[in-house]
Amino acid sequence: MTTDVTGARPIPTDDQVTIPALFDDPYPIYRRLRSHAPVHWIPAVNRYMVIGYHACRTVERDQERFSADETNSLMKRSMGHSMLRKDDPEHAVERASYGGVLRPKAIKNHWRAVFDHNARTYLDRLREIGPGADLIRDFAAPYAAENLRVIMGFYEATQQDMQRWSQTMIDGTGNYADDPEVWRMAKESSDEVDEAIDRALPYLRSHPDDSLLSRLADLPVPLESIRANMKMTIGGGLNEPRDALGTTVWALLSDPDQRALVAADPARWSDAFEESVRWVAPIGMYPREATRDTELDGFHVPAGARLGVVVGAANRDPEVFTNPDRYDIDRPKQPHLAFGGGEHFCAGAWVARSSVAQVALPMLFDTLPRLRLDPERPARAGGWVFRGMRTLPVLWD
Ligand code: HEM
Repeated sequence: MTTDVTGARPIPTDDQVTIPALFDDPYPIYRRLRSHAPVHWIPAVNRYMVIGYHACRTVERDQERFSADETNSLMKRSMGHSMLRKDDPEHAVERASYGGVLRPKAIKNHWRAVFDHNARTYLDRLREIGPGADLIRDFAAPYAAENLRVIMGFYEATQQDMQRWSQTMIDGTGNYADDPEVWRMAKESSDEVDEAIDRALPYLRSHPDDSLLSRLADLPVPLESIRANMKMTIGGGLNEPRDALGTTVWALLSDPDQRALVAADPARWSDAFEESVRWVAPIGMYPREATRDTELDGFHVPAGARLGVVVGAANRDPEVFTNPDRYDIDRPKQPHLAFGGGEHFCAGAWVARSSVAQVALPMLFDTLPRLRLDPERPARAGGWVFRGMRTLPVLWD
């Protein structure tokens, strides 16, 4: 553990960065910052932004120096204190409570059929809409929401409830402006989720199934932890598969050569997906806090520093990825950081891979072989903490 800061350089400040510019397109900003240092103090976001691949890996693998339990965390205020904002050993106990529900065996035995059914349902609805359809609004979002609803066991809720809960609570975690209306909506959703859990747990105790809530119903996990972890999972398990799906479709529709590679070999859907989350990480940044004065890649991080682990930047570090701004499913395999690393490595990575790469993408392109971008309605990406296609208007024959 490195606590010796002798010789460590001060972290540079960059006051040119603005939040609207990051939202619009963060990659030129990361390129510029990277040419100076792997970590910067960015006043506009009130954080040290860790943008180098090596530095991000160091932070996420060392919870003694870089804690997930951030002081004054807006996520804790919006969703409660979930496992994502705890360190081990407390984190490990709650992570273990999820058991095998999100793992490959359960996906094979239960969830794969759910994904097939839901992809078919929302693809049929997309086709009914016809011209004017938006691939995010009309396919990726309801598909991801309905998958998550079933896996989690919210049997009385709708996929629309899931989308609303997810968005309003996520808005709370990013409410740095302290907008009371944002807090009101986040609280309303949080209360609705609590009520849905309170109704589901007794029912699932007498009618057990394969869902997450059914598993938790029989474990000695405190109700407060169940509530916080469910809210975090609603926030983290819906927009990300949606955005991974949307970005992959956009990349392939924008680049006929890459699309041809996948069309020629369906085994390559997995490469298309992994390259997409490398290229545009759906969670672009997540927080950590320095527990002591310490050194990071030669720079002095002060005790209590609020860090942003910017995996969206690390995934385009040219020291690791050649020609990093290009979407290229043929690139040499290097581990990307889109699912995080260390103790908090995404618990839903298998669900995302199966639902998006094995089910939704092949079914979409097989069913609509002439799928293409609508030249009259431009597609638009946005975000940096969370990044994905905001709108993806498509046409087909
Ligand atoms: C492409 C899709 C996804 C991406 C890119 C993604 C990304 C991530 C990342 C970066 C983290 C770690 C954040 C941190 O360390 O602060 C994380 C954690 C987590 N994710 Fe995902 N995620 C995705 C899909 C899902 C899905 C579908 C689920 C649930 C079904 C899920 C559930 C979780 C949970 C429960 C954690 C917390 C793990 C822990 O604290 O130990 N994720 N995810």
